[in-house]
Amino acid sequence: MSGAVTLGFTLNGKKRRVRAPAMKRLLDVLRDECGLTGTKEGCGEGECGACTVLVDGLPVNSCLVPAVQAQGARIVTVEGLARGPKLTALQQAFVELGGAQCGICTPGMLLSSVALLSRAKGRVPRETEIREALAGNLCRCTGYQKIVDAVRAAARKGKAKSPLKVSANRALAAGGARQGSSRRRREESSPKKAAAAREGSRGSSSTRRALAAGGVRQGFSGRSREKSLPKKAAAARERTRR
Ligand code: FES
Ligand code: FES
Repeated sequence: MSGAVTLGFTLNGKKRRVRAPAMKRLLDVLRDECGLTGTKEGCGEGECGACTVLVDGLPVNSCLVPAVQAQGARIVTVEGLARGPKLTALQQAFVELGGAQCGICTPGMLLSSVALLSRAKGRVPRETEIREALAGNLCRCTGYQKIVDAVRAAARKGKAKSPLKVSANRALAAGGARQGSSRRRREESSPKKAAAAREGSRGSSSTRRALAAGGVRQGFSGRSREKSLPKKAAAARERTRR
């Protein structure tokens, strides 16, 4: 492997050493070298949050992080949440309340929620707080409310504590931290500008990649469509169900 370096980090509580090109994306190292395919790729450019993992307790978009920046870090992927077949209270709440449907966004949603609940330290976060914390995670299926309900339900049970300690510096230095959130906030605060920006980016190779990977970007625009044209959106949903 030319240009490969040996990287050491703690992955889901276990020490790991892997050889990989220094600039390989953390997302690919996790999936290819470590065999943990729970972390998903949606957009591949820091907008959808499907690839979210925790680096030293903070959610980062692993598609934006060069593997070398994970050297010495504590990484948690979705595989690190459940203990064997026993789901965490948070995962169970997602299942019971319909917070997971197609599942593409679910690993990222769970990890962003774990980080939030860890910060909340047993307090039940307000709905606005949850929406803010999950602003970098896009979902094309659930309409978000079920996810918010699941996070609150898990917090109420008081069993959703994360074993993680937050160390902001490392995760922020890793560069992938929540860049998607600014995109979604822009979408919600200024829908016209966001629509114009989307229009400008159509046809790019990253868009094609995203569509090939399951249409996460379609969900993004679909959500806007849902807001502006609820009847048409409902009709479109109905057609796709058949
Ligand atoms: S795949 Fe990383 S943010 Fe979309
Ligand atoms: S369940 Fe969120 S994208 Fe499908």
